[in-house]
Amino acid sequence: MSLHHLTRFPRLEFIGAPTPLEYLPRFSDYLGREIYIKRDDVTPMAMGGNKLRKLEFLAADALREGADTLVTAGAIQSNHVRQTAAVAAKLGLNCVALLENPIGTSAPNYLTNGNRLLLDLFNVEVEMCEALTAPDKQLEEIAVRLEAQGFRPYVIPVGGSNALGALGYVESALEIAQQCEDAVNLSSVVVASGSAGTHAGLAVGLEQLMPDVELIGVTVSRTVAQQKPKVIALQQAVAQSLEVSATSDIILWDDYFAPGYGTPNDEGMEAVKLLARLEGILLDPVYTGKAMAGLIDGVAQKRFKDQGPIVFIHTGGAPALFAYHPHL
Ligand SMILES: Cc1ncc(COP(=O)(O)O)c(C=O)c1O
Repeated sequence: MSLHHLTRFPRLEFIGAPTPLEYLPRFSDYLGREIYIKRDDVTPMAMGGNKLRKLEFLAADALREGADTLVTAGAIQSNHVRQTAAVAAKLGLNCVALLENPIGTSAPNYLTNGNRLLLDLFNVEVEMCEALTAPDKQLEEIAVRLEAQGFRPYVIPVGGSNALGALGYVESALEIAQQCEDAVNLSSVVVASGSAGTHAGLAVGLEQLMPDVELIGVTVSRTVAQQKPKVIALQQAVAQSLEVSATSDIILWDDYFAPGYGTPNDEGMEAVKLLARLEGILLDPVYTGKAMAGLIDGVAQKRFKDQGPIVFIHTGGAPALFAYHPHL
């Protein structure tokens, strides 16, 4: 088994860095299970997060195409848009972002603080839309307009989740496999599953490198029936681009995202508090809090395949804590 085709893809390594895999002693004691955390919340740029790994590949492609403007979309509090904007700034590119308000809130912190505040610092040109109902088409329309104005736009899909971006999480799987080698007899990995690139890249990487490890995607916006085809399509596209096969089942838990994308729930916020108080680690209300609520409940309900160590992929998102304060 090999992932050597990964090196065929140009990648801006200088914008990222390997992240630590840490043991969580106090949280493990609390749960009665060995829990490790992959600190992708501390990727090097602009308060960290999972999108930087995808952007190492996507921005390399943008530069190769001679782009001068990165165009992407997301929620007002999108971590993806914030990280894309930071990368654009570092590379001397413009950034245009199409944003929606997925929870229809008028809470001032949501509209102006957290990730949204940082977009202004990065000098992003923000366009608002009613809803991202057909984001690929909506982004394409912006790209056509920018081209007509003389720019050279490069469109990055929502969440950076295409086959190229998802390679960032094949890379993360490589790091996890190295970090666990000899030290951790890993049983399961838990990750938030949203636009699905993180989940799909990990699925392909872990299947090649640690085939006995169970990967659980905790959905943050969709039911299993809605999310599974998205993850599988990306998993297959990634596998094809790396010339490997991907036959592992995609496991999704959809019990933890209610009432819906972008609206916090009690279990998620409890998980945020727990990790802050036991480990000094900041989760977020939209993704990692809910995914961690899944991990906690999964241990309690014996949903994991066995009793062995679990790695939680910390995909970032803490800047949104400020946006959701004090509550919606
Ligand atoms: C903090 C955080 N965690 C998880 C995710 C989900 O990752 P993906 O969209 O690749 O499924 C996102 C995506 O926006 C995110 O910002």
